[in-house]
Amino acid sequence: MANDRPRVLSGIQPTSGSFHMGNYLGAVRQWVALQETHDAFYMVVDLHALTLPQDPRELRANTRLAAAQLLATGLDPERCTLFVQSHVPEHAQLSWVMECMTGFGEASRMTQFKDKSSRHGADRTSVGLFTYPILQVADILLYQADQVPVGEDQRQHIELTRNIAERFNGRYGETFTVPEPYILRETAKIFDLQDPTVKMSKSSSSPKGIIDLLDDPKASAKKIKSAVTDTGSEIRFDPEQKPGVSNLLTILATLTDVTVAEVEQKYAGKGYGALKTDLAEVVSEWAAPFSARTREYLDDPETLDSLLAEGAEKARSVAAETLAQAYDKVGLLPGKH
Ligand code: AMP
Ligand code: TRP
Repeated sequence: MANDRPRVLSGIQPTSGSFHMGNYLGAVRQWVALQETHDAFYMVVDLHALTLPQDPRELRANTRLAAAQLLATGLDPERCTLFVQSHVPEHAQLSWVMECMTGFGEASRMTQFKDKSSRHGADRTSVGLFTYPILQVADILLYQADQVPVGEDQRQHIELTRNIAERFNGRYGETFTVPEPYILRETAKIFDLQDPTVKMSKSSSSPKGIIDLLDDPKASAKKIKSAVTDTGSEIRFDPEQKPGVSNLLTILATLTDVTVAEVEQKYAGKGYGALKTDLAEVVSEWAAPFSARTREYLDDPETLDSLLAEGAEKARSVAAETLAQAYDKVGLLPGKH
């Protein structure tokens, strides 16, 4: 891995069994592409998952499942560093320093926190959910990442990261790279099939609104065929007037590696039915080998765990160096090492 390449870092939560099409098209697909051109660090953010109640056995299983799915999409441990966040203790350590650099008001403005806390109610809202974005700040800054490939819903957290990095650098001298979000316009937000005005989301969409990558292809086909489409019958990319059709066009174009304009042209004069049938087929063709590969990785947990251990070791060598610098800059006395 050439070290003069720009660095990218991103993470995904192990909070549900299967990734969905929004995770894949909005983020993970870019991760796979970027490992060819960037020094890439990707992680399963199990510490972030703890911000909401988790069954310990399920969390363990979902963490392996998330790693298996990442490998199945094409992440290659020879070309990127793939690891589990809690295996690198520096994340929690730098997070504390960053918490002390973040204003209470600043953290209170994070919209994802406001959404989640209002959904779960004050009784189930932990302090960890509140400081979640600051752990994310630490995740990114530890690796001196130049770019962070994510979906649109994460833009505010990257902006917070930039602000805190600049504040730290201003106060203590150049320490952290100020990262840029890497968000592809077309797939920045994949929408719920049943309500194409809101994002596809494991926590808020109904099951019928989500294309789960590990779903039985027949189940996905059924969901796609019953996707809410718009009035009229013309197939046209127009997210304002035709959010349902536009969402299907985006998914189809991206999965088949063509532009939305090309798909639009192909379906000119055809009905919504033809578009849905073809999309269901494309999704099924994509998902079947993906599911099979995921299963193979899960069937060999020892190999999976050792890949993750190697990833953590590589990640840790970078993270430890950054943490030591940050500790020193703020005036913490060096310890034994
Ligand atoms: P999460 O499942 O919340 O850990 O999200 C993992 C990644 O998927 C993040 O980069 C999100 O921005 C991205 N993502 C999640 N839902 C969507 C969506 N509906 N459209 C585009 N990107 C998404
Ligand atoms: N908060 C991100 C999400 O919900 C996950 C995440 C945690 C992340 N740490 C990160 C993404 C660091 C990018 C970089 O999707």
